Amino acid sequence: MSATAGGATGQAEQERRRGGFSSRRVFILAAIGSAVGLGNIWRFPYVAYENGGGAFVVPYLVALLTAGLPFLLLDYAIGHRHRGSAPLSFARLRRGTEGLGWWQVGICFVIAVYYAAVIAWALRYTFFSLDEAWGDDPEGFFFGEFLQAGDVQVTADVVPGVLVPLALVWVAVLLIMALGVQRGIGATSLVFIPILVLAFVALVVQALLLPGAGGGLDALFTPDWSALASAPVWAAAFGQIFFSLSIGFGIMITYASYVGRREDMIGSGLVVGFSNSGFELLAGIGVFAALGFMAQAGGVPVGEVASDGIGLAFIAFPTIISEAPAGALIGVLFFGSLVIAGITSLVSVIEVVISAVRDKLDTGRLTATLLVGVPAAVLSLVLFSTTSGIYVLDVVDHFVNQYGILIVALVSMLVVSWVLRALTRLGDHLNVHGRPRVGAGWRVLTSLVAPVGLALVLVFALRDDLTAPYEDYPAWLLLVFGWGLVVALPLVGFLLGRLPWRPGTHLDGPPPGSDPETPSDVTSGTDEGGRR
Ligand code: ALA
Repeated sequence: MSATAGGATGQAEQERRRGGFSSRRVFILAAIGSAVGLGNIWRFPYVAYENGGGAFVVPYLVALLTAGLPFLLLDYAIGHRHRGSAPLSFARLRRGTEGLGWWQVGICFVIAVYYAAVIAWALRYTFFSLDEAWGDDPEGFFFGEFLQAGDVQVTADVVPGVLVPLALVWVAVLLIMALGVQRGIGATSLVFIPILVLAFVALVVQALLLPGAGGGLDALFTPDWSALASAPVWAAAFGQIFFSLSIGFGIMITYASYVGRREDMIGSGLVVGFSNSGFELLAGIGVFAALGFMAQAGGVPVGEVASDGIGLAFIAFPTIISEAPAGALIGVLFFGSLVIAGITSLVSVIEVVISAVRDKLDTGRLTATLLVGVPAAVLSLVLFSTTSGIYVLDVVDHFVNQYGILIVALVSMLVVSWVLRALTRLGDHLNVHGRPRVGAGWRVLTSLVAPVGLALVLVFALRDDLTAPYEDYPAWLLLVFGWGLVVALPLVGFLLGRLPWRPGTHLDGPPPGSDPETPSDVTSGTDEGGRR
Protein backbone atom coordinates (compact mmCIF):
# COMPACT_ATOMS: atom_id res chain seq x y z
CA MET A 1 0.00 0.00 0.00
CA SER A 2 1.50 3.32 -0.91
CA ALA A 3 1.31 6.46 1.11
CA THR A 4 -0.92 8.61 -1.01
CA ALA A 5 -3.09 11.60 -0.33
CA GLY A 6 -5.93 9.09 0.03
CA GLY A 7 -3.71 7.26 2.47
CA ALA A 8 -3.33 10.45 4.48
CA THR A 9 -7.10 10.86 4.67
CA GLY A 10 -7.55 7.22 5.61
CA GLN A 11 -4.96 7.46 8.32
CA ALA A 12 -6.52 10.66 9.61
CA GLU A 13 -9.85 8.87 9.87
CA GLN A 14 -8.15 5.95 11.62
CA GLU A 15 -6.61 8.40 14.11
CA ARG A 16 -9.90 10.14 14.73
CA ARG A 17 -11.41 6.81 15.64
CA ARG A 18 -8.55 5.96 18.00
CA GLY A 19 -9.11 9.17 19.99
CA GLY A 20 -6.51 11.14 21.89
CA PHE A 21 -5.67 13.37 24.85
CA SER A 22 -7.25 16.82 24.70
CA SER A 23 -4.02 18.65 25.54
CA ARG A 24 -0.37 18.23 26.40
CA ARG A 25 -1.23 18.88 30.04
CA VAL A 26 -3.64 15.95 30.13
CA PHE A 27 -1.06 13.74 28.43
CA ILE A 28 1.63 14.72 30.95
CA LEU A 29 -0.71 14.00 33.85
CA ALA A 30 -1.69 10.65 32.32
CA ALA A 31 1.97 9.78 31.70
CA ILE A 32 2.89 10.71 35.27
CA GLY A 33 -0.12 8.71 36.42
CA SER A 34 1.23 5.75 34.50
CA ALA A 35 4.77 6.15 35.74
CA VAL A 36 3.93 6.82 39.38
CA GLY A 37 2.49 3.57 40.57
CA LEU A 38 3.05 0.62 42.82
CA GLY A 39 6.60 0.71 41.49
CA ASN A 40 7.23 3.99 43.31
CA ILE A 41 5.44 3.38 46.57
CA TRP A 42 5.46 -0.39 47.04
CA ARG A 43 8.52 -1.45 45.12
CA PHE A 44 11.11 1.34 45.24
CA PRO A 45 11.59 1.60 49.02
CA TYR A 46 12.27 -2.11 49.47
CA VAL A 47 14.32 -2.42 46.29
CA ALA A 48 16.48 0.52 47.39
CA TYR A 49 16.81 -0.87 50.88
CA GLU A 50 17.74 -4.37 49.73
CA ASN A 51 20.28 -3.04 47.27
CA GLY A 52 22.64 -0.89 49.23
CA GLY A 53 20.35 1.79 50.68
CA GLY A 54 21.87 5.20 49.95
CA ALA A 55 24.37 3.66 47.56
CA PHE A 56 21.46 2.51 45.41
CA VAL A 57 20.99 6.14 44.38
CA VAL A 58 24.13 5.82 42.24
CA PRO A 59 23.04 2.93 39.98
CA TYR A 60 19.51 4.34 40.05
CA LEU A 61 20.63 7.73 38.70
CA VAL A 62 22.98 6.12 36.20
CA ALA A 63 20.12 3.95 34.97
CA LEU A 64 17.77 6.95 34.81
CA LEU A 65 20.13 9.18 32.86
CA THR A 66 21.80 6.66 30.57
CA ALA A 67 18.90 4.38 29.80
CA GLY A 68 15.64 5.58 31.34
CA LEU A 69 15.29 9.07 29.89
CA PRO A 70 16.82 8.23 26.47
CA PHE A 71 14.54 5.24 26.15
CA LEU A 72 11.51 7.25 27.27
CA LEU A 73 12.17 9.65 24.42
CA LEU A 74 12.62 6.76 22.02
CA ASP A 75 9.24 5.36 23.03
CA TYR A 76 7.69 8.79 22.61
CA ALA A 77 9.24 9.24 19.19
CA ILE A 78 8.02 5.86 17.93
CA GLY A 79 4.46 6.32 19.18
CA HIS A 80 4.15 9.99 18.32
CA ARG A 81 5.53 9.64 14.82
CA HIS A 82 3.77 6.42 13.90
CA ARG A 83 0.54 7.10 15.73
CA GLY A 84 -0.43 3.61 16.71
CA SER A 85 -0.41 1.01 19.44
CA ALA A 86 2.92 -0.74 19.98
CA PRO A 87 2.35 -3.39 17.25
CA LEU A 88 0.99 -0.86 14.75
CA SER A 89 3.78 1.62 15.44
CA PHE A 90 6.45 -1.07 14.99
CA ALA A 91 4.69 -2.33 11.85
CA ARG A 92 4.81 1.20 10.48
CA LEU A 93 8.44 1.55 11.47
CA ARG A 94 9.23 -1.65 9.53
CA ARG A 95 6.70 -4.33 8.74
CA GLY A 96 8.79 -7.24 10.07
CA THR A 97 9.21 -5.73 13.53
CA GLU A 98 5.55 -5.86 14.51
CA GLY A 99 6.25 -8.85 16.75
CA LEU A 100 8.24 -6.60 19.08
CA GLY A 101 5.06 -4.66 19.72
CA TRP A 102 3.11 -7.82 20.48
CA TRP A 103 5.85 -9.00 22.81
CA GLN A 104 5.36 -5.74 24.73
CA VAL A 105 1.60 -6.25 24.65
CA GLY A 106 2.08 -9.71 26.19
CA ILE A 107 4.22 -8.28 28.97
CA CYS A 108 1.53 -5.70 29.73
CA PHE A 109 -1.15 -8.35 29.84
CA VAL A 110 0.85 -10.32 32.40
CA ILE A 111 1.65 -7.23 34.49
CA ALA A 112 -1.99 -6.11 34.48
CA VAL A 113 -3.13 -9.49 35.73
CA TYR A 114 -0.98 -9.40 38.88
CA TYR A 115 -0.81 -5.63 39.37
CA ALA A 116 -4.56 -5.53 39.97
CA ALA A 117 -4.13 -7.98 42.85
CA VAL A 118 -1.74 -5.69 44.74
CA ILE A 119 -4.17 -2.79 44.25
CA ALA A 120 -6.91 -5.01 45.67
CA TRP A 121 -4.79 -5.74 48.76
CA ALA A 122 -4.17 -2.01 49.20
CA LEU A 123 -7.89 -1.29 48.84
CA ARG A 124 -8.66 -3.77 51.58
CA TYR A 125 -5.91 -2.38 53.78
CA THR A 126 -7.26 1.17 53.40
CA PHE A 127 -10.30 -0.05 55.32
CA PHE A 128 -8.33 -2.31 57.65
CA SER A 129 -6.45 0.84 58.73
CA LEU A 130 -9.60 2.30 60.27
CA ASP A 131 -9.92 -0.39 62.93
CA GLU A 132 -6.42 -1.90 62.78
CA ALA A 133 -7.87 -5.21 61.74
CA TRP A 134 -4.45 -6.89 61.91
CA GLY A 135 -4.42 -6.74 65.72
CA ASP A 136 -0.96 -7.12 67.20
CA ASP A 137 0.46 -9.47 64.55
CA PRO A 138 0.46 -7.74 61.13
CA GLU A 139 2.70 -10.39 59.56
CA GLY A 140 0.62 -13.32 60.74
CA PHE A 141 -2.50 -11.43 59.67
CA PHE A 142 -1.19 -10.63 56.17
CA PHE A 143 -0.09 -14.14 55.26
CA GLY A 144 -2.57 -15.99 57.44
CA GLU A 145 -5.95 -14.43 58.01
CA PHE A 146 -5.87 -12.12 54.98
CA LEU A 147 -4.15 -14.05 52.15
CA GLN A 148 -4.56 -17.48 53.78
CA ALA A 149 -1.26 -18.45 52.15
CA GLY A 150 -0.58 -22.13 52.60
CA ASP A 151 2.16 -24.31 51.19
CA VAL A 152 3.85 -23.27 47.96
CA GLN A 153 1.49 -24.94 45.52
CA VAL A 154 -1.15 -23.76 43.08
CA THR A 155 -4.55 -24.26 44.62
CA ALA A 156 -8.14 -23.45 43.77
CA ASP A 157 -9.01 -22.44 47.32
CA VAL A 158 -10.58 -19.02 46.90
CA VAL A 159 -10.00 -16.27 49.46
CA PRO A 160 -13.17 -14.12 49.44
CA GLY A 161 -11.38 -11.24 51.20
CA VAL A 162 -9.18 -10.86 48.12
CA LEU A 163 -11.70 -11.91 45.50
CA VAL A 164 -14.20 -9.14 46.24
CA PRO A 165 -11.82 -6.14 46.18
CA LEU A 166 -10.04 -7.61 43.16
CA ALA A 167 -13.33 -7.87 41.29
CA LEU A 168 -14.09 -4.24 42.26
CA VAL A 169 -10.71 -3.09 40.96
CA TRP A 170 -11.38 -4.75 37.62
CA VAL A 171 -14.87 -3.29 37.34
CA ALA A 172 -13.51 0.22 38.02
CA VAL A 173 -10.64 -0.18 35.56
CA LEU A 174 -12.81 -1.55 32.80
CA LEU A 175 -15.31 1.27 33.23
CA ILE A 176 -12.49 3.79 32.82
CA MET A 177 -11.20 1.94 29.79
CA ALA A 178 -14.63 1.78 28.17
CA LEU A 179 -14.96 5.56 28.49
CA GLY A 180 -11.98 6.08 26.21
CA VAL A 181 -8.66 7.88 26.10
CA GLN A 182 -9.74 11.38 27.10
CA ARG A 183 -12.99 10.79 28.99
CA GLY A 184 -11.62 7.71 30.73
CA ILE A 185 -7.84 7.79 31.14
CA GLY A 186 -7.38 11.56 30.75
CA ALA A 187 -10.21 12.52 33.10
CA THR A 188 -9.11 9.97 35.72
CA SER A 189 -5.60 11.41 35.69
CA LEU A 190 -6.85 15.01 35.89
CA VAL A 191 -8.79 14.21 39.03
CA PHE A 192 -6.61 11.66 40.76
CA ILE A 193 -3.03 12.83 40.20
CA PRO A 194 -3.50 16.09 42.18
CA ILE A 195 -5.26 14.11 44.92
CA LEU A 196 -2.39 11.61 44.96
CA VAL A 197 0.23 14.31 45.26
CA LEU A 198 -1.63 16.04 48.11
CA ALA A 199 -2.27 12.78 49.96
CA PHE A 200 1.29 11.62 49.60
CA VAL A 201 2.87 14.89 50.64
CA ALA A 202 0.60 14.93 53.71
CA LEU A 203 1.72 11.39 54.49
CA VAL A 204 5.41 12.19 54.15
CA VAL A 205 5.13 15.29 56.33
CA GLN A 206 3.31 13.28 58.97
CA ALA A 207 5.92 10.51 58.78
CA LEU A 208 8.78 13.00 59.11
CA LEU A 209 7.24 14.37 62.29
CA LEU A 210 7.23 10.97 63.98
CA PRO A 211 9.87 10.40 66.66
CA GLY A 212 12.72 8.32 65.24
CA ALA A 213 12.11 9.38 61.63
CA GLY A 214 15.73 10.52 61.32
CA GLY A 215 16.99 7.03 62.12
CA GLY A 216 14.94 5.63 59.25
CA LEU A 217 16.33 8.17 56.84
CA ASP A 218 19.86 7.35 58.02
CA ALA A 219 19.21 3.69 57.27
CA LEU A 220 17.90 4.45 53.80
CA PHE A 221 20.56 6.95 52.87
CA THR A 222 23.63 5.55 54.59
CA PRO A 223 25.38 4.03 51.64
CA ASP A 224 26.65 0.49 51.55
CA TRP A 225 29.24 1.18 48.88
CA SER A 226 30.13 -2.47 48.50
CA ALA A 227 26.71 -2.89 46.88
CA LEU A 228 28.02 -1.00 43.86
CA ALA A 229 30.23 -3.95 43.02
CA SER A 230 27.25 -6.26 42.90
CA ALA A 231 25.69 -6.97 39.52
CA PRO A 232 22.22 -7.74 40.93
CA VAL A 233 22.17 -4.27 42.46
CA TRP A 234 22.69 -2.74 39.03
CA ALA A 235 20.13 -5.09 37.56
CA ALA A 236 17.66 -4.01 40.22
CA ALA A 237 18.30 -0.34 39.38
CA PHE A 238 17.71 -0.82 35.66
CA GLY A 239 14.69 -3.02 36.30
CA GLN A 240 13.27 -0.44 38.69
CA ILE A 241 13.78 2.43 36.23
CA PHE A 242 12.15 0.62 33.32
CA PHE A 243 9.21 -0.62 35.37
CA SER A 244 8.76 2.66 37.15
CA LEU A 245 9.02 4.91 34.11
CA SER A 246 6.66 2.57 32.24
CA ILE A 247 9.15 2.29 29.40
CA GLY A 248 10.12 -0.55 27.13
CA PHE A 249 6.81 -2.33 27.32
CA GLY A 250 4.58 -0.33 25.06
CA ILE A 251 2.92 2.10 27.47
CA MET A 252 4.68 5.26 26.39
CA ILE A 253 4.46 4.32 22.71
CA THR A 254 0.72 3.97 23.11
CA TYR A 255 0.23 7.15 25.12
CA ALA A 256 2.44 9.19 22.76
CA SER A 257 0.28 8.06 19.85
CA TYR A 258 -2.62 9.93 21.47
CA VAL A 259 -0.81 13.29 21.61
CA GLY A 260 -1.34 16.09 19.11
CA ARG A 261 1.27 16.15 16.37
CA ARG A 262 2.67 19.55 17.27
CA GLU A 263 3.33 18.95 20.94
CA ASP A 264 6.79 19.08 22.51
CA MET A 265 7.55 15.48 23.39
CA ILE A 266 11.07 16.10 24.68
CA GLY A 267 10.07 18.66 27.31
CA SER A 268 7.13 16.44 28.23
CA GLY A 269 9.45 13.48 28.65
CA LEU A 270 11.76 15.39 30.98
CA VAL A 271 8.81 16.55 33.09
CA VAL A 272 7.46 13.01 33.32
CA GLY A 273 10.85 11.39 34.01
CA PHE A 274 11.90 13.78 36.77
CA SER A 275 8.43 13.88 38.35
CA ASN A 276 8.49 10.12 38.55
CA SER A 277 11.90 9.97 40.18
CA GLY A 278 10.97 12.82 42.52
CA PHE A 279 7.92 10.91 43.62
CA GLU A 280 9.99 7.78 44.06
CA LEU A 281 12.43 9.59 46.31
CA LEU A 282 9.54 11.08 48.26
CA ALA A 283 8.12 7.59 48.74
CA GLY A 284 11.47 6.33 49.97
CA ILE A 285 11.69 9.20 52.48
CA GLY A 286 8.12 8.74 53.70
CA VAL A 287 8.37 4.99 54.07
CA PHE A 288 11.74 5.02 55.82
CA ALA A 289 10.81 7.89 58.14
CA ALA A 290 7.91 5.73 59.27
CA LEU A 291 10.17 2.70 59.64
CA GLY A 292 12.54 4.79 61.76
CA PHE A 293 9.65 5.53 64.10
CA MET A 294 8.79 1.86 64.27
CA ALA A 295 12.37 0.88 65.03
CA GLN A 296 12.67 3.44 67.80
CA ALA A 297 9.37 2.39 69.33
CA GLY A 298 10.52 -1.23 69.37
CA GLY A 299 14.06 -0.36 70.49
CA VAL A 300 15.58 -2.25 67.53
CA PRO A 301 17.66 -1.22 64.50
CA VAL A 302 15.77 -0.18 61.36
CA GLY A 303 17.20 -3.23 59.60
CA GLU A 304 15.13 -5.44 61.83
CA VAL A 305 11.80 -3.77 61.23
CA ALA A 306 12.17 -3.30 57.48
CA SER A 307 10.82 -6.61 56.29
CA ASP A 308 11.98 -6.96 52.74
CA GLY A 309 10.06 -7.64 49.59
CA ILE A 310 6.33 -7.56 49.28
CA GLY A 311 5.90 -7.40 53.04
CA LEU A 312 7.34 -3.92 53.48
CA ALA A 313 4.07 -2.21 52.65
CA PHE A 314 1.66 -4.74 54.05
CA ILE A 315 3.50 -5.78 57.20
CA ALA A 316 5.61 -2.86 58.31
CA PHE A 317 3.01 -0.17 57.66
CA PRO A 318 0.25 -1.78 59.71
CA THR A 319 2.67 -1.95 62.63
CA ILE A 320 3.42 1.75 62.23
CA ILE A 321 -0.28 2.57 61.93
CA SER A 322 -0.97 0.73 65.18
CA GLU A 323 1.74 2.57 67.07
CA ALA A 324 1.84 6.08 65.60
CA PRO A 325 -0.31 8.98 66.73
CA ALA A 326 -3.15 9.44 64.18
CA GLY A 327 -2.23 6.02 62.79
CA ALA A 328 -5.55 5.53 61.02
CA LEU A 329 -4.94 8.71 59.03
CA ILE A 330 -1.45 7.51 58.05
CA GLY A 331 -2.98 4.21 56.99
CA VAL A 332 -5.72 5.73 54.87
CA LEU A 333 -3.25 8.13 53.24
CA PHE A 334 -0.69 5.41 52.56
CA PHE A 335 -2.95 2.66 51.29
CA GLY A 336 -5.28 5.14 49.59
CA SER A 337 -2.27 6.54 47.72
CA LEU A 338 -1.30 3.03 46.70
CA VAL A 339 -4.79 2.44 45.30
CA ILE A 340 -4.87 5.71 43.34
CA ALA A 341 -1.31 5.38 42.03
CA GLY A 342 -2.02 1.76 41.16
CA ILE A 343 -5.23 2.45 39.27
CA THR A 344 -3.74 5.27 37.16
CA SER A 345 -0.89 2.92 36.24
CA LEU A 346 -3.04 -0.14 35.66
CA VAL A 347 -5.17 1.74 33.14
CA SER A 348 -2.01 2.55 31.16
CA VAL A 349 -0.83 -1.05 31.26
CA ILE A 350 -4.11 -2.47 30.06
CA GLU A 351 -4.49 0.31 27.46
CA VAL A 352 -1.46 -1.13 25.67
CA VAL A 353 -3.38 -4.35 25.11
CA ILE A 354 -6.70 -2.70 24.30
CA SER A 355 -5.23 -0.28 21.79
CA ALA A 356 -3.33 -3.11 20.08
CA VAL A 357 -6.48 -5.19 19.76
CA ARG A 358 -8.41 -2.15 18.50
CA ASP A 359 -5.81 -1.38 15.87
CA LYS A 360 -5.42 -4.96 14.72
CA LEU A 361 -9.08 -5.97 14.62
CA ASP A 362 -10.42 -2.50 13.87
CA THR A 363 -12.99 -2.91 16.63
CA GLY A 364 -14.75 -0.27 18.70
CA ARG A 365 -13.58 0.77 22.13
CA LEU A 366 -16.16 -1.17 24.11
CA THR A 367 -15.63 -4.37 22.18
CA ALA A 368 -11.86 -4.20 22.61
CA THR A 369 -12.24 -3.39 26.31
CA LEU A 370 -14.38 -6.47 26.81
CA LEU A 371 -12.20 -8.67 24.59
CA VAL A 372 -9.15 -7.80 26.68
CA GLY A 373 -10.62 -6.96 30.06
CA VAL A 374 -12.79 -9.98 30.66
CA PRO A 375 -10.06 -12.63 30.14
CA ALA A 376 -7.56 -10.49 32.07
CA ALA A 377 -9.96 -10.07 34.99
CA VAL A 378 -10.87 -13.76 35.04
CA LEU A 379 -7.24 -14.85 34.96
CA SER A 380 -6.39 -12.34 37.65
CA LEU A 381 -9.19 -13.60 39.88
CA VAL A 382 -8.33 -17.25 39.26
CA LEU A 383 -4.61 -16.86 39.92
CA PHE A 384 -4.52 -14.28 42.67
CA SER A 385 -7.60 -14.69 44.80
CA THR A 386 -6.53 -18.16 45.85
CA THR A 387 -4.35 -19.24 48.72
CA SER A 388 -1.34 -19.63 46.39
CA GLY A 389 -1.70 -16.17 44.84
CA ILE A 390 1.16 -14.53 46.71
CA TYR A 391 3.79 -17.02 45.53
CA VAL A 392 2.76 -16.84 41.90
CA LEU A 393 2.70 -13.06 42.15
CA ASP A 394 6.16 -12.86 43.65
CA VAL A 395 7.64 -15.08 40.93
CA VAL A 396 5.85 -13.36 38.03
CA ASP A 397 6.81 -9.91 39.35
CA HIS A 398 10.47 -10.86 39.63
CA PHE A 399 10.81 -12.54 36.24
CA VAL A 400 8.68 -10.20 34.18
CA ASN A 401 10.52 -7.18 35.55
CA GLN A 402 14.01 -8.58 35.60
CA TYR A 403 13.89 -10.33 32.25
CA GLY A 404 10.65 -9.65 30.39
CA ILE A 405 10.88 -5.87 30.38
CA LEU A 406 14.65 -5.57 30.18
CA ILE A 407 15.05 -8.08 27.35
CA VAL A 408 12.32 -6.61 25.18
CA ALA A 409 13.72 -3.13 25.86
CA LEU A 410 17.19 -4.25 24.84
CA VAL A 411 16.00 -5.99 21.69
CA SER A 412 13.86 -3.00 20.67
CA MET A 413 16.76 -0.60 21.21
CA LEU A 414 19.07 -2.75 19.12
CA VAL A 415 16.57 -3.31 16.34
CA VAL A 416 15.56 0.36 16.07
CA SER A 417 19.16 1.61 16.32
CA TRP A 418 21.16 -0.94 14.40
CA VAL A 419 18.81 -2.90 12.15
CA LEU A 420 16.40 -0.17 11.11
CA ARG A 421 18.87 2.67 11.67
CA ALA A 422 15.87 4.81 12.56
CA LEU A 423 17.32 6.92 15.36
CA THR A 424 18.18 9.92 13.22
CA ARG A 425 14.73 10.23 11.76
CA LEU A 426 13.09 9.58 15.11
CA GLY A 427 15.31 12.24 16.71
CA ASP A 428 14.47 14.65 13.89
CA HIS A 429 10.82 13.99 14.56
CA LEU A 430 11.22 14.85 18.25
CA ASN A 431 13.20 17.98 17.39
CA VAL A 432 10.53 19.51 15.16
CA HIS A 433 8.60 20.75 18.17
CA GLY A 434 10.70 19.46 21.05
CA ARG A 435 13.10 21.37 23.28
CA PRO A 436 15.88 20.87 24.31
CA ARG A 437 16.79 19.17 21.08
CA VAL A 438 18.13 15.64 21.03
CA GLY A 439 21.22 14.93 18.98
CA ALA A 440 24.26 12.73 18.79
CA GLY A 441 24.39 12.35 22.58
CA TRP A 442 20.90 10.88 22.68
CA ARG A 443 21.71 8.56 19.80
CA VAL A 444 24.88 7.32 21.47
CA LEU A 445 23.06 6.71 24.76
CA THR A 446 20.18 4.92 23.06
CA SER A 447 22.16 2.83 20.63
CA LEU A 448 25.31 2.12 22.62
CA VAL A 449 25.46 3.02 26.29
CA ALA A 450 21.99 1.87 27.32
CA PRO A 451 22.11 -1.45 25.41
CA VAL A 452 25.58 -2.28 26.75
CA GLY A 453 24.41 -1.45 30.28
CA LEU A 454 21.26 -3.50 29.89
CA ALA A 455 23.09 -6.45 28.35
CA LEU A 456 25.65 -6.60 31.17
CA VAL A 457 22.96 -6.30 33.75
CA LEU A 458 21.01 -9.13 32.16
CA VAL A 459 24.01 -11.43 31.94
CA PHE A 460 24.86 -10.98 35.61
CA ALA A 461 21.28 -11.27 36.74
CA LEU A 462 20.86 -14.45 34.68
CA ARG A 463 23.97 -15.90 36.21
CA ASP A 464 22.53 -15.35 39.67
CA ASP A 465 19.09 -16.69 38.91
CA LEU A 466 20.54 -19.75 37.21
CA THR A 467 22.88 -20.59 40.06
CA ALA A 468 20.33 -20.33 42.87
CA PRO A 469 16.54 -20.60 42.59
CA TYR A 470 14.82 -17.28 43.19
CA GLU A 471 13.76 -17.11 46.85
CA ASP A 472 14.22 -20.89 47.00
CA TYR A 473 10.90 -21.45 45.30
CA PRO A 474 10.35 -24.94 43.86
CA ALA A 475 11.62 -25.50 40.34
CA TRP A 476 8.17 -26.12 38.83
CA LEU A 477 6.89 -22.75 40.06
CA LEU A 478 9.91 -20.92 38.62
CA LEU A 479 9.71 -22.86 35.37
CA VAL A 480 6.03 -22.22 34.75
CA PHE A 481 5.54 -18.68 36.04
CA GLY A 482 9.11 -17.42 35.70
CA TRP A 483 11.27 -18.82 32.92
CA GLY A 484 8.30 -20.24 31.03
CA LEU A 485 6.64 -16.83 30.78
CA VAL A 486 9.86 -15.09 29.84
CA VAL A 487 10.37 -17.50 26.92
CA ALA A 488 6.72 -17.76 25.86
CA LEU A 489 6.05 -14.02 25.57
CA PRO A 490 8.37 -13.29 22.61
CA LEU A 491 7.25 -16.47 20.85
CA VAL A 492 3.59 -15.55 21.14
CA GLY A 493 4.48 -11.99 20.18
CA PHE A 494 6.15 -12.99 16.96
CA LEU A 495 3.31 -15.39 16.08
CA LEU A 496 0.76 -12.61 16.57
CA GLY A 497 2.94 -10.35 14.45
CA ARG A 498 2.43 -12.78 11.55
CA LEU A 499 -1.33 -12.33 11.54
CA PRO A 500 -2.57 -10.18 8.67
CA TRP A 501 -3.93 -6.67 9.18
CA ARG A 502 -7.40 -5.79 8.02
CA PRO A 503 -7.50 -4.34 4.54
CA GLY A 504 -7.31 -0.57 4.70
CA THR A 505 -4.95 -0.42 7.68
CA HIS A 506 -2.17 2.02 6.89
CA LEU A 507 1.15 0.39 7.54
CA ASP A 508 3.48 2.61 5.59
CA GLY A 509 4.37 5.13 8.24
CA PRO A 510 3.42 8.78 8.25
CA PRO A 511 1.90 9.64 4.88
CA PRO A 512 2.97 12.84 3.15
CA GLY A 513 1.26 15.82 4.69
CA SER A 514 1.12 14.32 8.13
CA ASP A 515 4.57 15.28 9.36
CA PRO A 516 4.46 17.48 12.40
CA GLU A 517 5.49 20.64 10.64
CA THR A 518 2.42 20.57 8.42
CA PRO A 519 -0.84 22.05 9.62
CA SER A 520 -2.79 18.79 9.45
CA ASP A 521 -3.00 18.16 13.15
CA VAL A 522 -5.55 15.42 13.11
CA THR A 523 -5.31 14.36 16.71
CA SER A 524 -7.66 16.90 18.09
CA GLY A 525 -7.98 15.35 21.46
CA THR A 526 -11.53 14.29 20.97
CA ASP A 527 -12.60 10.96 22.22
CA GLU A 528 -13.09 7.97 20.06
CA GLY A 529 -15.58 8.68 17.37
CA GLY A 530 -15.59 5.11 16.13
CA ARG A 531 -17.90 2.25 16.70
CA ARG A 532 -18.59 1.10 20.17
N1 ALA B 1 5.14 2.54 36.16
C1 ALA B 1 4.23 1.79 36.90
C2 ALA B 1 4.68 1.62 38.31
O1 ALA B 1 5.64 2.20 38.71
C3 ALA B 1 3.95 0.49 36.20
O2 ALA B 1 4.08 0.94 39.06
